[in-house]
Amino acid sequence: MRIDIITVSPELIKSPFEYSILKRAQDKGLAEVHFHNLRDYALNKYNKIDDYQFGGGAGMVLMIEPIDKCISKLKSERDYDEIIYMTPDAPILNQSTANTLSLKENIIVLCGHYKGVDQRVRDLFITKEISIGDYVLSGGELGAAVLCDSVIRLIPGVLGDETSALTDSFQDDLLSPPVYTRPASYKGADVPEILLSGNFPKIDEWRSEQAYERTKQIKPELLDE
Ligand code: ADE
Repeated sequence: MRIDIITVSPELIKSPFEYSILKRAQDKGLAEVHFHNLRDYALNKYNKIDDYQFGGGAGMVLMIEPIDKCISKLKSERDYDEIIYMTPDAPILNQSTANTLSLKENIIVLCGHYKGVDQRVRDLFITKEISIGDYVLSGGELGAAVLCDSVIRLIPGVLGDETSALTDSFQDDLLSPPVYTRPASYKGADVPEILLSGNFPKIDEWRSEQAYERTKQIKPELLDE
């Protein structure tokens, strides 16, 4: 899978891709991530990429022309399955979206900044808009990193143990059951007996019950879906 990230702050978003699972995915050749600095597509020598909004109002708006130039260049080189815009006024990322995107071949992720982008960018180029939550970040970069992490770890072969993504929270619309490791007893707090029993059918049953109870308590809306 190839991901092209368009941003005004490449330095802000690069580091999450240099560690752990995201790095391993790239080292294994399963994910290819490219960063494009929107300023390289600026209109003039002053690196102009944003301007005041028509009609007045605070905040600068990213202009359509540099974004068009960048997206058009990428599209001339290969076909894209999705051109995604990170913005708070969009449907919120969930596991189902991450699953779907992990099966794509090429995607572009456009990070917003300041007041956002000229609406015509959204109307003309964007195929999917994603928010990472109902709060406003300073730009789309952190959201793009969250999106890419959730997607890349699902690409087949990225996680060493194939089952570990399948048992993540949300994969079957349930939160994960609690997990424990050594020591079995710590300052009077004991690991549930059943996990030490070696009775694996019973352990599976206990985990399913716990997953259901946790979901009912913390995210009951998942059970309605
Ligand atoms: N840009 C600013 N806020 C955002 C959010 N909540 N999700 C995605 N992109 C954003």
